[in-house]
Amino acid sequence: MATERTLSIIKPDATKRNLTGAINKKFEDAGLRIVAQKRIRLTEEQAGRFYDVHRERPFFGELTEFMASGPVVVQVLEGEGAIAKNREVMGATNPSDAAEGTIRAEFAESVGENSVHGSDAPETAKEEIAFFFSGLEIVG
Ligand code: PPS
Repeated sequence: MATERTLSIIKPDATKRNLTGAINKKFEDAGLRIVAQKRIRLTEEQAGRFYDVHRERPFFGELTEFMASGPVVVQVLEGEGAIAKNREVMGATNPSDAAEGTIRAEFAESVGENSVHGSDAPETAKEEIAFFFSGLEIVG
């Protein structure tokens, strides 16, 4: 399987509860390497641009307000099949559907406040990484 890169976000519900290290331990234990990382605070406008694909969905306002409500850690994970592996370690979007041992099963509070985001496909991974990082900031 090819080496890939994917965008990961540790969301405000998790940074607020000091779970950054516990979450990243799960990624690293699964063989994913953190090759870029920064802690930032998004504005609602920036969160809206990032989640533009969901603009017409009923939860859009709630989602962007939440993503701007506190610090997030944005990072690039690298590894074999990193896009699928990241989503496997994260677990299902709704924590009540997430498999045991996944980040969302252990830490997420609800379908909205679900601790982590991960890119869902190669093209979105490329776009989402470029949204936050320049090539110089990614050190493999
Ligand atoms: S998925 O994985 O993209 O198919 O999931 P989806 O259900 O389409 O949800 C997309 C993102 O929207 C968030 N979400 C919500 N936020 C607030 N309130 C409600 N009700 C809600 N439902 C879904 C969900 O956490 C997904 O965020 P990301 O960061 O993409 O995982």
